[in-house]
Amino acid sequence: MKPPTSTTVDAYSAAFAWIAGAKSIYRGRGAEVIDLGVADSFTMPPDVLIQGLQRSGAALDDHAYGFHALSSFNDAALIYLQKLFGLHSTADLEVINTAGAKGGLNLVAQTFVQAGDLVLTTAPGYPIFDVAAARLGAEVLPLPLQEGSRFLPDLESLDPAVLRRAKLLAINYPNNPTGCTLQPQTVRGLLELCGKYDILLINDAVYAPITFDRTARLSLLQFADAPQRCIEVHSLSKAFQIPGWRIGFVATHERLAARMRPVAARLDSGQPPFIQRSVIPVLREPDYVETLCSLVYTRLQRLANILAKHGFQATLPAGTFFLYCRAPRADGPDRVFASAHDCALHIAERYGIICIPWTTGDRQYLRFSAAFRSDADDEAVYREIDRRLRDSALLFSH
Ligand SMILES: Cc1ncc(COP(=O)(O)O)c(C=O)c1O
Repeated sequence: MKPPTSTTVDAYSAAFAWIAGAKSIYRGRGAEVIDLGVADSFTMPPDVLIQGLQRSGAALDDHAYGFHALSSFNDAALIYLQKLFGLHSTADLEVINTAGAKGGLNLVAQTFVQAGDLVLTTAPGYPIFDVAAARLGAEVLPLPLQEGSRFLPDLESLDPAVLRRAKLLAINYPNNPTGCTLQPQTVRGLLELCGKYDILLINDAVYAPITFDRTARLSLLQFADAPQRCIEVHSLSKAFQIPGWRIGFVATHERLAARMRPVAARLDSGQPPFIQRSVIPVLREPDYVETLCSLVYTRLQRLANILAKHGFQATLPAGTFFLYCRAPRADGPDRVFASAHDCALHIAERYGIICIPWTTGDRQYLRFSAAFRSDADDEAVYREIDRRLRDSALLFSH
């Protein structure tokens, strides 16, 4: 079984196939894998969402086309940006509902990318925007997120001719997989550069609510003039534990939103009205996010401690569900890993623990997720991880 090696459409499907394969190998030995590769839902969503679904199911209007014009949803999304990220004014902003962040990223690509454009993206990354842009005929230039640059894109090192040609810069902060978050001064730098070279800045903000440090919880749209040159892609998948509902929104200046609306209307008919209406209460009162963040942080701390016992240097992130650690180079003297992928496969097959491998330059990493399912007993999961890794002799070159 070959693990995926690059960020392509095929690698995306291959990643899921690889995880399924690793699970079945371990199950074949009579035990369940511990899946720390996931970013799916792991706890129940807020009660008010479930009550909302029940109410909406009984309302005739909520079975009609939703389109993108349900003003109560749009208003609630703007309130959410104000309450969670402290946006002072949303006067020039508009939102368009989407099928989660995936839908938002595809909508942005469909609207703004044309054949021959140069698109900059951060790498490693979630393979949606770059793949969509490449399919539309753009040239995609991945900007490596290196530990030495604190997992931020090093735009200053790019040839100004490249920056002059670039039309879009797609980033994802808080970042999957590195867990890196943006600080206000970095955002100002990015916006200044995008202004100077007339680059449209897209932030995949799917993890924006999942932050553990007040300064890390930010929206790019709160910065002066940002909405004019920035589109933020939001999702309720992670923050409210409803990835299957497929609800999110893009937020930007009305001028950019006006360009996306006709494209959105052709792509789909908007998210179902019963979904849009059901999420309004949590957008208006997003308190659940704080409870979720403290649960995620506790899980990250417990996981980091156990991984540290077995030699990993697992630094706690300021946001996301993930611990991003250097991969071990061997397990004992005889099992030397050829790559992070080889290492992840070994950990899956030998210890029944799934994690996601990444390679950046000549560095090998593993991503462990705190969004694991635990049947309500997280401590049993930690004990089991610890027990399984006790037989290991992982060797690192930190
Ligand atoms: C970085 C990133 N962007 C987008 C998505 C897709 O999220 P959604 O469920 O909102 O489509 C994910 C899902 O894991 C993700 O990690």
